[in-house]
Amino acid sequence: MNSLNVELGERSYPIFIGSNLFDDQKLISPFLGKSRVVVITNSVVGPLYLEKVKGFLGFNYDSYIILPDGEEHKNLDSVGLIYDHLLRGKYDRKTILVALGGGVVGDIVGFAAATFQRGIRFVQIPTTLLALVDSSVGGKTGVNHSLGKNMIGSFHQPQCVIADMAVLGTLPGREVKAGFAEVIKYGLIGNVNFFDWLSKHSKALLDLNHDYLSETVQICCEAKANIVSADEKESGSRALLNLGHTFGHAIETASGYGKFLHGEAVAIGMVMAADLSKRLGLLDSAEAKKIRQMLEIDFGFSVIPPVDISETRYLELMSSDKKVEEGKIRFILLKAIGTAFIEHQVSEEVLRETLTSGSQLCM
Ligand code: NAD
Ligand code: GLY
Repeated sequence: MNSLNVELGERSYPIFIGSNLFDDQKLISPFLGKSRVVVITNSVVGPLYLEKVKGFLGFNYDSYIILPDGEEHKNLDSVGLIYDHLLRGKYDRKTILVALGGGVVGDIVGFAAATFQRGIRFVQIPTTLLALVDSSVGGKTGVNHSLGKNMIGSFHQPQCVIADMAVLGTLPGREVKAGFAEVIKYGLIGNVNFFDWLSKHSKALLDLNHDYLSETVQICCEAKANIVSADEKESGSRALLNLGHTFGHAIETASGYGKFLHGEAVAIGMVMAADLSKRLGLLDSAEAKKIRQMLEIDFGFSVIPPVDISETRYLELMSSDKKVEEGKIRFILLKAIGTAFIEHQVSEEVLRETLTSGSQLCM
């Protein structure tokens, strides 16, 4: 097992990375003290891992909640189910919530923990690749609104993250692939060698080669921990983690939550960001093409934006994204593979070219 720390002063916490970590109660017990623990999972993950996690939590385990599965349930109704359970069970401010699931469960539970009785502690046990490499680390919590993705939320850091790679064994192939969008993002924003390594080992990675996956999770968590430590509340560099997300969130919202997996929408969004960077004369066209090829050929993503979202709808959704500051959309653009930056001044004419490029993105 490896561990690394997210350094945030008194809110610092470890990420434990390994396999079959649920067998070792000693790993979690120091974080629980005498607290009652409520495990919150969903109807897919619960039947697979709840019993193991109950054993892992030992005498601290008190009860569980099963939420409905899916991005379409990442909303205040699900948060309400958690509040109801906690209030009916007379849980107090010492209670610890455990989020057992992918990014959806993690974001909902984190938000419930941030807001129940003005904030209680929680632990992340991520069970998807996306959650292992991204959403379980960094304390962004929240839910969607019908008018916008992740529009209701809070920053609230977990006590620790138990990143058990063994859970990936049951993850459907489409979900594994979607997780690689956020993995590739780390290469694009800051690590060209990692990008090349991912491209070289894409087949083994998609086949869940244990050694390559462990290395991947380690590299991504390290990158995320460093970024979050430097800019917890996204006043600057943390925004680089949103590469492709402004486009991706617009695709998710316009298509109805759940149609595109988050990673699938982000993959298209990253190709759109690369295309925009190329059109603005920032990114070499060979590099833009290489990014598309990596996502489309090496990892098998569809990189063509849905045809039913009009240019006007994109602009409308993108300008109500959280990434808008003083009326200007904040874009994450690329100067090269491995070098991203934040830009507020993008010509609308060029942006419209990207939005209408369809199958020609990055070509
Ligand atoms: P998800 O949580 O919906 O999980 C994907 C599917 O896999 C679900 O059906 C789930 O029940 C199932 N599943 C989970 N673990 C499984 C396992 N081990 N075996 C079998 N099935 C399993 O989706 P996701 O991709 O993990 O997360 C996407 C969400 O994460 C989005 O809402 C996105 O906004 C959010 N996100 C948050 C952050 C953050 O920093 N907080 C970062 C990136 C993404
Ligand atoms: N996934 C974006 C962030 O955590 O900032």
